[in-house]
Amino acid sequence: MKSVLVFDFGSQYTQLIARKIRELGVYSEISPYDISLSKVKNNKPAAIILSGGPQSVYQKKTPRISAEIFEWGIPVLGICYGLQLIAHLLGGRVTLSQKREYGLARLNVLDRKGLLFRIRDREQVWMSHSDRVEAIPPGFIISGQTANCPSAVIEWREKRIFGVQFHPEVIHTKQGMRILKNFLFHQAELEPEWNMEAFIERKTAEIRTRVGSKKIICGLSGGVDSLVTALIVHRAVKDKLFCIFVDTGLLRSGHYREMMRKFQKRLALNIIGVDASGLFLEKLKRISSPERKRNIIGELFIRIFEKEAKKIGDVGFLAQGTIYPDVIESTPVKGPSSKIKTHHNVGGLPLRLKFELIEPLRELFKDEVRTLARELGVGRDFILQHPFPGPGLAVRIVGEVTPERIELLRKADAILIREVKRAGLYNKLWQAFVVLLPVKSVGVMGDRRTYQSVVVVRLVRSVDGMTADWFPARSEILARISNRIVNEVDGVNRVVYDITTKPPGTIEWE
Ligand code: XMP
Repeated sequence: MKSVLVFDFGSQYTQLIARKIRELGVYSEISPYDISLSKVKNNKPAAIILSGGPQSVYQKKTPRISAEIFEWGIPVLGICYGLQLIAHLLGGRVTLSQKREYGLARLNVLDRKGLLFRIRDREQVWMSHSDRVEAIPPGFIISGQTANCPSAVIEWREKRIFGVQFHPEVIHTKQGMRILKNFLFHQAELEPEWNMEAFIERKTAEIRTRVGSKKIICGLSGGVDSLVTALIVHRAVKDKLFCIFVDTGLLRSGHYREMMRKFQKRLALNIIGVDASGLFLEKLKRISSPERKRNIIGELFIRIFEKEAKKIGDVGFLAQGTIYPDVIESTPVKGPSSKIKTHHNVGGLPLRLKFELIEPLRELFKDEVRTLARELGVGRDFILQHPFPGPGLAVRIVGEVTPERIELLRKADAILIREVKRAGLYNKLWQAFVVLLPVKSVGVMGDRRTYQSVVVVRLVRSVDGMTADWFPARSEILARISNRIVNEVDGVNRVVYDITTKPPGTIEWE
């Protein structure tokens, strides 16, 4: 199957480019810009996209690729920094613009024979740059301009090299998808032949070739990402896959037993259950730092996997349900994406890992994983289940994690989920959960002074977990939740409602 390779120069939109291309029916993957060129050549991409990035091409030590790629005859589209890089590498001139251009602009179309085929004049495009191409390289023409950017679209049609200063991948660029289609289907002559079934086949074949005769273990979390991962790996290697479901003692009330029952009843997978709740509690004693908690938990998971792998014998690989938001928010990469928190299955891994990692969903967003799950015949209850963080309740207990605090949070959380479901809200929300604060407040119950814990109710809506809105729940629902928690959970005398969006907040508190 033909694929498009997106070179990542550090833009916050890189993944969106790959995703939009997949939406158009063409398989697309991202590579760091400094991947070895021989590797790229071997993979034979049908087209290449150079992403945006925060740097200036004319400075020293900025991310580059070799101009050799323009000699391969593979169609190339540069976006923002990618366009500037093309201009710079092929003999044009890029300079700091007098006016930084951020936000909406209108595109004047000068030539519709190439990338701008059937693009209407004066439509809105989304700009975000402070450099611009002052002189285009030999061979190129300018096919589009904006008021502040004389070379907003450049093309060398004979060589099939194109560049756009704006971002066609974001929805604010009205005809962005049309431009991407023109590149993919007219210029690169690709066909829309990719879909979830093709993705499964591709990943299955890749995994089969990679693992050979070795065995694989897969960590199940009880969520849809790890389940889909296991099902794909199972298609590839059948009985050589062993799934491990760990009771960390940090799962929601009753979740471990319920999931174990579902797994065993409904799935034809080898499932090993491990009760490690004592161990997790022991290692988390007196730890309050969110990142320390995440690292300890990540490491413990691996140690447990190693122990189980030893019992199984001949295990060479660990499959994990890592998805794209886990990767992007855990990676201290160049440019605008800085490390937000260590998602346990990415940054929480110990440096010396005894397994090679298999992460077939690493490029996908949650909603894509859910579509994939449907394709694989996964039940609705798994698919519609809210995401739950790998480090579990430990990152919802601000401060030290103790058995008493876990118990208290579990009770409050169970009430919340029951009430959210009762109100018919569960499937409208991305997540609903309670956070326990290390704060006590004074209250009065039955004429007596109380001095007890404060919990936070968080209800959020989101499409992919990258951004989120707090949910404006009706006051009757909030009142009921608060009433029940304060009355039924011993040790809580105050409930507050979190009204923070992401950004600037994150969804979880730690
Ligand atoms: P934040 O808190 O970063 O969360 O806004 C975004 C989404 O990711 C989930 N999350 C995790 N998932 N391992 C996971 O598998 C983790 O370590 C982790 N931390 C956060 C979070 O619940 C939300 O849906």
